Amino acid sequence: MTKKIRILGISGSLREGSFNTYALNAAKKLCPESAEIEIFSIAGFPEFIQGQDEDPPEIVTKFKEAIRSADAVLVSSPEYNYSVPGVLKNAIDWASRPYGDSAWEGKTAAIMGASPGAIGTARMQYHLRQIMVFLDMHPINKPEVMINNCAEKFDESGELIHEGTQKIIRMMLEALIEHAKRFA
Ligand SMILES: Cc1cc2nc3c(=O)[nH]c(=O)nc-3n(C[C@H](O)[C@H](O)[C@H](O)COP(=O)(O)O)c2cc1C
Repeated sequence: MTKKIRILGISGSLREGSFNTYALNAAKKLCPESAEIEIFSIAGFPEFIQGQDEDPPEIVTKFKEAIRSADAVLVSSPEYNYSVPGVLKNAIDWASRPYGDSAWEGKTAAIMGASPGAIGTARMQYHLRQIMVFLDMHPINKPEVMINNCAEKFDESGELIHEGTQKIIRMMLEALIEHAKRFA
């Protein structure tokens, strides 16, 4: 039996009832047999202070271990003020340090996002891609998963009910799995 590709899911929203966390849960269900998605919650991270990264809190150590043991990461995040939410950027910064010990280096990735707005987190996604350049990560380019008008695409229990969105998430996961295999 071939080993499954391990994908680490990260939601950029800590909100109860978060559409982005719902989207990650949907990705878990839509994931092809050849892979599995484990979600890591970034709740409870202290604010990053340079100098304290040599002796990080346990949650950061666990986060870095989870990133390193995964073949790929999948970030699902809201757009806040046209960019990456602070909690997500804070967690990214923690896992990038101390200098020379970044957990992100060389990691394959995919990005998706849900927003009630019309362009479904596009601006956040391009800022996150820019961050991934410095982190030396390898995000897939396509398909882009920008879930606009998101309240219409999930039911009240948080289930993704929009077929087109299910299809594109599935296509993104297939592309991510192939990408992760190439980099393995
Ligand atoms: C501080 C803040 C800034 C926001 N800025 C944007 C924005 O720039 N673009 C956008 O589409 N939505 C913006 N929103 C609305 C979020 O997309 C919306 O609250 C979304 O549901 C958050 O994702 P979540 O459901 O996963 O928590 C903002 C919300 C907050 C709280």
